[in-house]
Amino acid sequence: MVKVVDRREIVDGIFNLILHAPEIAYRSAPGQFINIRCGEGCLPLLRRPFSISRVDGDLIDLMFNVIGHGTRMLSSKRAEDSLDVLGPLGVPFGIAGDYETALLVGGGLGIAPFPFLTDFLLKQKKKILTFVGARTGHQISERYMTNVHVATDDGTRGLRGTVVDLLKQYLAGQPSRKYKIFGCGPTQMLKTLSELASANDVDCELSLEGDMACGMGICQGCPVERADGKKKYSLVCTEGPTFNSKDIILR
Ligand SMILES: Cc1cc2nc3c(=O)[nH]c(=O)nc-3n(C[C@H](O)[C@H](O)[C@H](O)COP(=O)(O)OP(=O)(O)OC[C@H]3O[C@@H](n4cnc5c(N)ncnc54)[C@H](O)[C@@H]3O)c2cc1C
Ligand code: FES
Repeated sequence: MVKVVDRREIVDGIFNLILHAPEIAYRSAPGQFINIRCGEGCLPLLRRPFSISRVDGDLIDLMFNVIGHGTRMLSSKRAEDSLDVLGPLGVPFGIAGDYETALLVGGGLGIAPFPFLTDFLLKQKKKILTFVGARTGHQISERYMTNVHVATDDGTRGLRGTVVDLLKQYLAGQPSRKYKIFGCGPTQMLKTLSELASANDVDCELSLEGDMACGMGICQGCPVERADGKKKYSLVCTEGPTFNSKDIILR
């Protein structure tokens, strides 16, 4: 059980929830998530997964938008409320490597793990370029990120187009070896990003956002198809949510 410290709407429809969770804060790494019981009754029945967005001492931050019942309940939490959370869960991003510049590519709430990832990468003296995509300019948050480039579907900020179009424009004519891509967002965006990484021969890690239930390998409800043929599926909750783009097939 952890206590809510603060809950605020940071930009149009996007909430930031700060939790006092020292046991999670000290053991977590970027790319990991927590699984939250959003209400006290039976609805919603299943826990909901959220990336650990940032760690500051004993505190962890989450970033989310209201999609359904669970996120609506979270958006109404107040300071001093208690929350039942499991975590940290999942495999963190692979940050080590001889690349010079990390390319962080987030679609919608896919930016959620990036503040924590940015902190880690800066400590490793990596350069960072961040590419953020949203439907419209009001939904863009740049909090705790660095060197942010923006794309919006309606063209109200930055490039009119997708965040993958934006990265494609940037990569044109750049040497590929010194980069590593870290991507997070909806599955179709990650699929296009994976194709772009492969075409440009850039190493790429993806954090998947698909449906999940137990969050710890019991229900078998979160399979992703493997590309290497050693086995057919991996579980996103225990073998992910981060995967090298070459190891999985997104459909
Ligand atoms: C590892 C992991 C980390 C995540 N981190 C974050 C995060 O940091 N911030 C955040 O906002 N979200 C994150 N998500 C997604 C988040 O868990 C879902 O948005 C949340 O479970 C929705 O719960 P709900 O009860 O509000 O909606 P539900 O009632 O469960 O869903 C309402 C509708 O939205 C659809 N839906 C549910 N989840 C998704 C989804 N992920 N993508 C597209 N459609 C969906 C459902 O099919 C349904 O139609 C993460 C998911 C995973 C697996
Ligand atoms: S969510 Fe239950 S096994 Fe992954």
